[in-house]
Amino acid sequence: MRSTFSSVILGLVGLTTAQTVTERVIPTLSPQIDALPSLTPTILDPTAPDSQACPGYKAANVVQAGHGFTADLTIAGADCQAFGNDIADLVLEVQYQTKERLNLKIYPKHISPQNSSWFILPAHLVDEPAWDGKTTANTSDLKLDWSNDPTFQFKVSRINTGEEIFSTYGHKIVYEDQYLELLTNMVDDYNVYGLAENIHDFRLGNNYNQTYYAVDAGNSIDYNVYGVIPFYQETRYHSGGNTTAHGVYARNAHGQEWLLRNSTIAYRTLGGSFDLYFLSGQTADGTSSALTTISQFQVGCIGTPAMQMYWTFGFHQCRWGYENISVVQDVVDGYKSANIPLEGVWNDLDIYELYRDFTNNQVTYPLPAFTNFIETLHANGQHYIPIIDSNIYVPNPTNASDAYSPFEHGAELQTFIRDPTTGDFYYGDNWPGFSVWGDWLIPSTQSWWTNEILTWHKGTPFDGIWIDLSEASSFCAGSCGNGRLDENPVHPPFLLPGDPLSFDFLYPESFNVSNATEASSAAAASSSQASVISASPPLPVATTTTMGRTEPTPGVRNLNFPPYVINNVQSGHALGKSSIAPNATHNDQYNTTEYEMHNLFGLQISNATYHALLQVFPGRRPFTVGRSVFAGSGKITAHWGGDNTSTWGSMFLSISQALTMMMSGIPMFGADTCGFTHNTDYQLCSRWMELSAFFPFYRNHNVKAAISQEAYRWSSVAESSRRAMKVRYSMLTYMYTLFYYAHTKGETVMRALAWEFPNDPSLRETYGQFMLGPSILVTPVLIPNVETVNGVFPGVADGTRWFDWYTLAEVDAQPQENKTLSAPLEHINVHIRGGSILALQEPKLTTNATRNTPYSLVVALDSNGKASGSLYLDDGYSLVPDAIKLVEFTYADGCLKYTSEGSYASTQPLANITVAGLQSTPHDYGHGPYANRSSSYWGHGKPKGSTLEFGGKNCSSDGRSVSYSNGVLKVTGLEKDTGNGAFESALSLCFGW
Ligand code: NOJ
Repeated sequence: MRSTFSSVILGLVGLTTAQTVTERVIPTLSPQIDALPSLTPTILDPTAPDSQACPGYKAANVVQAGHGFTADLTIAGADCQAFGNDIADLVLEVQYQTKERLNLKIYPKHISPQNSSWFILPAHLVDEPAWDGKTTANTSDLKLDWSNDPTFQFKVSRINTGEEIFSTYGHKIVYEDQYLELLTNMVDDYNVYGLAENIHDFRLGNNYNQTYYAVDAGNSIDYNVYGVIPFYQETRYHSGGNTTAHGVYARNAHGQEWLLRNSTIAYRTLGGSFDLYFLSGQTADGTSSALTTISQFQVGCIGTPAMQMYWTFGFHQCRWGYENISVVQDVVDGYKSANIPLEGVWNDLDIYELYRDFTNNQVTYPLPAFTNFIETLHANGQHYIPIIDSNIYVPNPTNASDAYSPFEHGAELQTFIRDPTTGDFYYGDNWPGFSVWGDWLIPSTQSWWTNEILTWHKGTPFDGIWIDLSEASSFCAGSCGNGRLDENPVHPPFLLPGDPLSFDFLYPESFNVSNATEASSAAAASSSQASVISASPPLPVATTTTMGRTEPTPGVRNLNFPPYVINNVQSGHALGKSSIAPNATHNDQYNTTEYEMHNLFGLQISNATYHALLQVFPGRRPFTVGRSVFAGSGKITAHWGGDNTSTWGSMFLSISQALTMMMSGIPMFGADTCGFTHNTDYQLCSRWMELSAFFPFYRNHNVKAAISQEAYRWSSVAESSRRAMKVRYSMLTYMYTLFYYAHTKGETVMRALAWEFPNDPSLRETYGQFMLGPSILVTPVLIPNVETVNGVFPGVADGTRWFDWYTLAEVDAQPQENKTLSAPLEHINVHIRGGSILALQEPKLTTNATRNTPYSLVVALDSNGKASGSLYLDDGYSLVPDAIKLVEFTYADGCLKYTSEGSYASTQPLANITVAGLQSTPHDYGHGPYANRSSSYWGHGKPKGSTLEFGGKNCSSDGRSVSYSNGVLKVTGLEKDTGNGAFESALSLCFGW
């Protein structure tokens, strides 16, 4: 029996006209659609076998090679069949790949082409780091020792100090067809970071489980999330006050778990091989750091992040529920009239005809009106980014008018993932109804995808693509559309936000304090909705059964229900819950299964979209923002944090999520600002607009049917946004320069305080404050109803100076002091680190307008009266720019100098120079200091009574001015002297003291 939903939903608010005219039917919640048995995660199963009781392996037949060795590993006892079938014969391969990287692989000795994908992750899917052709055991930072006593175990240590960084001593290695395990011994109270993606404290702690299985579950705190980047970085604080740091990358795409315990970390995967990369984190002088480790991971293992287009750093507004073009136009107008920058306008599913990718809803987003709307955005220097979902609707075969060409084209090329039980396509379920998914393992899928994107771009001239649901998410269990395609378009098997009885009445914590009346009416509405639902459930209640642990079966892999049950966040924990089933097959020659490929779908669809965009915009950097990511995704895509909530907690955790993304080489990261699910309020939204202004990707996004949360909806949020965006847009070139160094050197963009101040153990857990590059400290307000914030000023014990962004006043802070800073609602505390030189521009309403304003230099002196900085410039969009410019700034001995390299013309003049942190008054700044362009250096001791000159002109005349107050010297009005471009020639400007 199937229930028609149309009777319930027709004519209700929140549905587009096109949706109401087409009957959408909720499929029967039969076991096939909905129910998977409920499983007990192995880590919670007291009856689970002890895998460490397995026999382990013995190594023999060691063959030395110049840069490592190989050996045979043979099982050291009877098969134990813990969570799979034991593999008796393995190969051990150890390579000193580069000075700082050691690789250890263990894989089965006998691999047939048919089962190779079970074990070996191909290099064409995920980069496989290789030997540099010169490093040997003698030139490596690291060494590997092993023993056979009692069974094969190994340890990795630093050669220079002997520090052991990884050791399986005392533990067995387990290698089965569906289960691999090793344990490393850890030091007391260890500090491990990373293992992205997670929503958890920045320092992972010593009692934490990181489950990895890409999942369509927002806000899944302490569980698996959308992305999988199996890399951790460990920092050790030593008694002498220094630290050491190293990293471990496990190149394996299977479902897996990392169990962090007091004295060990256990690494367990559902297949693949051990392919471990140990990173020394060392530089040439033998010291190591977190930042060096992270850079070694990106440069040497997964590839450095893509350079993003300049405009993508502007502010973006998105929401699910922009019902038609005029609603979106109102949003654009709203930002304009509130004088708040708006760079990118985004659409969610609302643009589509019945949720089908690459369509345009002809009632609400009709062409050509929609094309004109986008072209007008472009004419105003703004950009447009739509969503593309990972699923492709399957037209109803019994309804000739239900044709859908993206499906037909893909079906002709046989590009979709298959159902192994029928050999037909795998028909899962998603927003449009029964759907299929591209099989990125075969080349025809790329040409199909490129063609759909190229075609759609003609009417919808987007500037980038937002890829959603790329885990890949499916709303039913298995190929549930088999034999039921004639029911399409079926409604998802749950109510949508805003459907009757699914209104979201939740508000941020403490909403009852700031908005007592609204809070109590929301609470009343919520409980009345709950009582209606419980009296008469709108959907049939699914029945679930429980299932015991499956046992390993010789010769058979149980793909859908492997014997080891990871602690998947989805209810019931089955791998197939809300995802394409693990036994779905691909069309490659080995019929690789989703069991192997699941965690790579997001990487692959982003990669395909990247290449499609290269066809749409030849030579231009593709801009894609993807939901599921894997190690290496940052080379091609940006990423957002997914379905967070409008809560203070969610905002707080977005910082640690961001920091781990920085570690993972995916710096173009941001969270749904003001929160996705639930309703926000003015306080949370103000604070979040402020915070996200310092994340590389800055987008406000909202669920359908929650209250509106564009920045102009409240005067306080508007003001907070204007102020924070002024800071952001002033320093766009700084952010862009940080990206250049991320792209070229694997440097991080947002930074943990512990990375920048590695010798201060008190910072090891801090993420309530963070840095943007080496120079900017951000201290956001992360709790409601306060007008102050506490923050530390790291490094002051060693002489680090900090200056308030807005006033340039020096902070008076004591070592370890948790200083209380004023933080009224519209203010975010931002400080500049002494020793920095920043090139700033005037904030305007778009990035392009900002980019065309004159530069100002801000020099914040360190305790030695020195500072330095750099600036990267190019055209802002070319994949391979014709010309670039790199400017290096230094300030020492009272002289500011800069030199530039590269032929990119920085046509904007230099208007102002500000020096902060002067410890003595210039003896006569109007008459003492000298300046000149073209490298002239006038030094100290110039005659009194001379004037400060810039380019031979008196700095106190003809519109120029010099002023000094409280340690801050300002020279303004230099535009006309640098009209051929601020950095077209070298400068040396000396002030006299
Ligand atoms: C899930 C995405 O995470 C969210 O951002 C989007 O709004 C909804 N899908 C609807 O497309």
